[in-house]
Amino acid sequence: TNLEIAITGGTVATASDTFQCDIGIRDGKIVALGHDLAQHAADVIDASGKFVLPGGIDSHVHIAQPSGEGIVMADDFESATLSALFGGNTTIMPFCLQERGQSLRKTLSEYHSLADHKCYTDVSFHLIICDPTPELLGQELPAAVHDGYKSFKVFMTYDNLRLNDAELLATFDVARDLGATVMVHCENEDAIRFLIEKHEAANKLRPSSHASTRPVAAEREATHRAVSLAEIVDIPVVIVHVSNGQAIDEITQGRKRGSSITAETCPQYLVLTSADLEGMDWEGAKFVCSPPPRDTADQIACWRGLKDGTFDLFSSDHCPFKYNSPDGKLNPRGAKNFRHIPNGIPGVETRMPILFSEGVNKGRIDLNRFVALTATNHARTYGLYPRKGTIAIGSDADIAIWDPDLEVTVRHADLHDGADYSPYEGLELRGWPVTVLLRGKVMIRDRKLEAQLGDGQYLPR
Ligand code: URP
Ligand code: ZN
Ligand code: ZN
Ligand code: ZN
Repeated sequence: TNLEIAITGGTVATASDTFQCDIGIRDGKIVALGHDLAQHAADVIDASGKFVLPGGIDSHVHIAQPSGEGIVMADDFESATLSALFGGNTTIMPFCLQERGQSLRKTLSEYHSLADHKCYTDVSFHLIICDPTPELLGQELPAAVHDGYKSFKVFMTYDNLRLNDAELLATFDVARDLGATVMVHCENEDAIRFLIEKHEAANKLRPSSHASTRPVAAEREATHRAVSLAEIVDIPVVIVHVSNGQAIDEITQGRKRGSSITAETCPQYLVLTSADLEGMDWEGAKFVCSPPPRDTADQIACWRGLKDGTFDLFSSDHCPFKYNSPDGKLNPRGAKNFRHIPNGIPGVETRMPILFSEGVNKGRIDLNRFVALTATNHARTYGLYPRKGTIAIGSDADIAIWDPDLEVTVRHADLHDGADYSPYEGLELRGWPVTVLLRGKVMIRDRKLEAQLGDGQYLPR
């Protein structure tokens, strides 16, 4: 034997091809694609009747970010990466949020001390830039990019995070010189603030007001502005968590003018709507995220964008808070006023099963598109390809074996994140990853954990 593992008899799919073959693994890498490999292997995984796919890469997750006055994110790196692993992911990309006045170096060392040796998947960080001082843009950011933190997110909304247009331009300009990848959260903060004040004056304080104070027009306008500012500076941009058809149109128009735009959407824009925020009692808080879920026409627009290639990335935007907890959605102020409900929902484990079931199994997208949207394009966009995101000789043996017929009703009790609910509770899905390998190590076998905490590694880029 010269192989550590052979995965035999499965249907292997990449972003471009689907074929029947065995996969041979040695030293954490894929070293053979062929037939009758079992005889050469110490451990044989029978994948007949299953799909053998690159491990998922979720390039948009929030873990252990400081979230303001008494609010705590529900996951640490252990629970978030365990949840990610059970959902078929082998790499996730969380954010390091630089707090105002803190050095980037300090921020990074804090996140590393939270994450190092505490992960079940590989991890690579993006930065969040909320305070683009000349010092940051001139020294700290170039040093961080040099050290392998080659992508960062900027916000056009949230009081303490948002950049104005001048700051966006200055930040884009530096990113251009550094060759860094910029992700933009597009919502018009002034419009939102105006609407929040109107709603408060009218005593409309329930969770559903979160959706009505963040209308499509606020996202469409900011998307247009982000695309235009990027065009002026001449940099590529990633427009994250696009929720609706009008924002999609802005991206399409920008591309027609020649702009290089990568576009991302998320499960919440496919299977939730703003009506979910109108739940009984304060249950609507479970669905408060930004941008908010829209209507069924926008769901259809997002599906069209996934199929026709408008969207490159399908990410979770996992940002977990407990629901029934004073440090979560129902914090003392959030239980009375929508504007104090922390924004974000859990979803790192359900991201791929939702797209697989609703997309592949229902014929809306094909299997190769699924692989592109959940793995390959993330690796390409953020500089991890071809080590990650594909099944090819020489790539890391990051592999998820899917049972395409396994029926699962989403129950939070069966998930592995640290929240106390799932926004997808009761959703009936078909298809789930059953065995997951990370760099050639079997992490989950037949839905049972074999991994050790710390098997995940940090990936500089
Ligand atoms: O509501 C959300 N999406 N919270 C997470 C932070 C962000 O804007 O992505
Ligand atoms: Zn042999
Ligand atoms: Zn965002
Ligand atoms: Zn996010």
